[in-house]
Amino acid sequence: MDRISDRIRKAAEIIAKAKHAVVFTGAGISAESGIPTFRGKGGLWEKYDPEEVASISGFMRNPRAFWEFSKDLLVKVKAEPNDAHKAIAELEEMGIVKAVITQNVDMLHQRAGSKKVLELHGSMSYVDCLKCGAIYVWEDIEKIIDNPACKNCGSELLKPRVVFFGEPLPSGILSEAMEESRKCDVFIAIGTSLVVYPAAHLPFMAKDHGAKLILINAEPTDKDYLFDVVIHDKAAPTMKKILEKVKELRG
Ligand code: OAD
Ligand code: ZN
Repeated sequence: MDRISDRIRKAAEIIAKAKHAVVFTGAGISAESGIPTFRGKGGLWEKYDPEEVASISGFMRNPRAFWEFSKDLLVKVKAEPNDAHKAIAELEEMGIVKAVITQNVDMLHQRAGSKKVLELHGSMSYVDCLKCGAIYVWEDIEKIIDNPACKNCGSELLKPRVVFFGEPLPSGILSEAMEESRKCDVFIAIGTSLVVYPAAHLPFMAKDHGAKLILINAEPTDKDYLFDVVIHDKAAPTMKKILEKVKELRG
């Protein structure tokens, strides 16, 4: 059995040679920024029923349940990007990473400096009142969480521009993500349980088109077998080490 340090070196060697790397992230990459994951140890779905708080029918029935849940989801509304987000932004600057595909709605990739971010599940940056069309922005979130009612019309149907279960993914973003996954030579998945579709199809597409696949996730997934390098460890310290090695190798 090789050691984690060997796997980190192997991952760095693959990334250093990449011409078009794509990064695919999930909740686990933001765990070290203080944002809880959905599944895995201590995940939000141990405490909440996703059907009630994260499905579109649940939301239409009781939008307040979603906003109660977002107190936990966004415990740290002021969460900062961590070393993993920053390493990815730096790899983009170095011309290695060409796109970040994320299932997260926390906007931490952009705040770390990533330019090309495909948000498959939308983001919390805007909230729409489904009754009167008023639009709220990220800076209003804390007030909405305190009192989820439209200031303009009083409706409680304040829907963030995130994809709820039972809603389609934004089709333009999904097709771009699929195209990136097909054309990349290296596909790096970080902090995702790889169980939610259609996002979880992306590593299969990359594999089918000949990319090398790297996985960094705290716990094993049922798709570990797809990956050429699997590192079961935390995203932030691992990505920091990988970035250092890539820089060494690139000289
Ligand atoms: P999950 O919560 O399903 O998976 C997060 C993974 O990150 C787990 O396998 C953890 O073991 C791992 N993890 C935890 N801490 C970590 C750390 N510090 N470093 C690395 N890995 C860590 O999150 P997603 O795969 O993003 O969708 O979930 C996919 C979708 O399911 C979400 O976008 C959301 C959710 O329901 C919608 O709401 C539509
Ligand atoms: Zn309104």
